[in-house]
Amino acid sequence: MSFPVTRLRRMRQSDSLRSLVRETRLISANFIYPLFICPGERVRKEISSMPGVFNLSVDEAVKEAHEAKSLGLGGIILFGLPEKKDEVATGAWTEDGIVQRATRAIKKEVRDLVVVGDVCLCEYMSHGHCGIVKKKSSDKDADYEILNDATLEILAKTSVSLAEAGMDIIAPSDMMDGRVGAIRKALDQAGFSNTPILSYAAKFASGFYGPFREAADSAPQFGDRRSYQMDGANLREAMREISLDIKEGADMIMVKPAMPYLDVIAEARRRFDLPIAAYQVSGEYAMLQAAIRNGWLDRDRVILESLTSIRRAGAQLILTYFAKDAAKLLG
Ligand code: PBG
Repeated sequence: MSFPVTRLRRMRQSDSLRSLVRETRLISANFIYPLFICPGERVRKEISSMPGVFNLSVDEAVKEAHEAKSLGLGGIILFGLPEKKDEVATGAWTEDGIVQRATRAIKKEVRDLVVVGDVCLCEYMSHGHCGIVKKKSSDKDADYEILNDATLEILAKTSVSLAEAGMDIIAPSDMMDGRVGAIRKALDQAGFSNTPILSYAAKFASGFYGPFREAADSAPQFGDRRSYQMDGANLREAMREISLDIKEGADMIMVKPAMPYLDVIAEARRRFDLPIAAYQVSGEYAMLQAAIRNGWLDRDRVILESLTSIRRAGAQLILTYFAKDAAKLLG
């Protein structure tokens, strides 16, 4: 049947008709809100390239966690800015690490809020890479290798330490091969067989992480992350990454960034049945905020439209700096 019998505009005539046939809906319970934890007390330092996002001391992070809970968000994910960095990422796995302390405080004060721990070493390494660096010659920064297998041990140790602090979900974002299996094994051996793993399975080497590196003070001091994060051109390889992580025991997988990779989310949704998350990253947030602040885009509309596009592509969970704003808009 075609025009004039078929008129798709019939179902678009009013808010109530549109709502009746809406295919994709956002709910606050699917949003995960990132927090950046820093040393000190009563610290709330705004990140210049991410207006509305702050470095927070533990006491301030607890307040945010309360707010996240009262807005009905699905959870929060914690990143840490340690007091000191070194070449073995001590700050990531030490018992009194910044994220460990924040986790204990939040778990004690806020009931029933899912707390996710990003497991990566770049914030804790003096060189800013996500793994152990082996310099091939001492004089040239360019001549180095990120050691895969040696890094796995530290990632496993970090994961156990976070689980001990009370972390609900462990989310490795380093892109080393075999890390989901190594983390699963270590968690199980330490008695955390019930702690789920959300793997950043398809994480692309992206220019959209720029503002995050200011927020987490984690920019690599030399080179870049292209030898471990994925080439943005590769969809089939992303599917291999995901299926390997599932075989190694991932409970959920993530695609990151979100909007420039909606096709990857959609393909992952078609192929795999486990929950899929997507990370609307710092650069996506910064871009929208910059245009919103210039009056070039309508804030409320683009927040919800961007998140809806990610949900429609097939991501059930969305990590987003707009989580609180979106929850308020959804009412
Ligand atoms: C840690 C990590 C990064 C992000 C999340 N975890 C940065 C990176 O890989 O350089 C990016 C998040 C964002 O941009 O919002 N490796």
